[in-house]
Amino acid sequence: MAVFKEGELAILIDQKGRKYLISLKKDSVFSFHKGNVQINEIIGKEEGSRVVSTKGEHLLVFRPTLEEYILKMKRGAQIIYPKDISRILTALDIFPGAKVFEAGTGSGALTLYLIRAVGTYGKVVSYEKREDFYNTAKENIERFLLPDLRNVLILENKDISEGIEEGDFDRVILDLTEPWLFLDKVLSVLKPGGILGCYLTTVLQIYNLMEEFEKNYSQSLYKIGIFELLERNWEKQGLSLRPALRMIAHTGFIVLFRKFS
Ligand SMILES: C[S@@+](CC[C@H](N)C(=O)[O-])C[C@H]1O[C@@H](n2cnc3c(N)ncnc32)[C@H](O)[C@@H]1O
Repeated sequence: MAVFKEGELAILIDQKGRKYLISLKKDSVFSFHKGNVQINEIIGKEEGSRVVSTKGEHLLVFRPTLEEYILKMKRGAQIIYPKDISRILTALDIFPGAKVFEAGTGSGALTLYLIRAVGTYGKVVSYEKREDFYNTAKENIERFLLPDLRNVLILENKDISEGIEEGDFDRVILDLTEPWLFLDKVLSVLKPGGILGCYLTTVLQIYNLMEEFEKNYSQSLYKIGIFELLERNWEKQGLSLRPALRMIAHTGFIVLFRKFS
């Protein structure tokens, strides 16, 4: 891997495992509670190098993974956590070259993963109704993505209730409070055989979605299932190997459908 260049992102990890996301700006200084690091010391170094702060703290320097990036990037709306994103990518079978519609964009966490999964031959169309969230998402996405992948995305400051301009989508993912209000709009743009995923955080939302599906859409959507997305992280301290005392375990559910004609 090439050495760090000016303008790139880097993640610094201190001796306690705390992570700091920085942009490598020439002649600037990274300051934290354990001293300062001259950014010029990082530019030109190989990934995986170590730097020492003015107060003697050793820091590892890597390029951020997408997971590290989205956990540190600016937030408008609450993001979907990486553990849920990984399940969404597999459950919706997001493939290279796929055409995917997403609403709402929020902070752009899922959008970034969708872009990477569909690749340069794919397309992601994402709608966000709030202008402030749209701007934050745009900034977050542009900061991380290499230019060749930026063309994959069409990001619109738009409310899905106004309709979806493009059509012929292979996949649709809704991360909205009331997805059941938009099933007609989704059906008009999803290809037969296409997969719809609704990411939800409460059981009442699942109930409302399923009621609407049973009343009006059971002749056009096949229900794949309702899944809770759980992950527990564990810690080892000496002889104690046990689930972490603090963790984000339950975050949400995914409800999946497939369109038939
Ligand atoms: C929980 S956030 C999405 C987070 C996003 N998945 C991420 O990972 O960063 C839900 C977003 O949906 C947007 N939204 C809600 N209703 C909408 C609608 N009718 N059309 C477009 N966006 C909508 C909200 O403004 C909010 O930003």
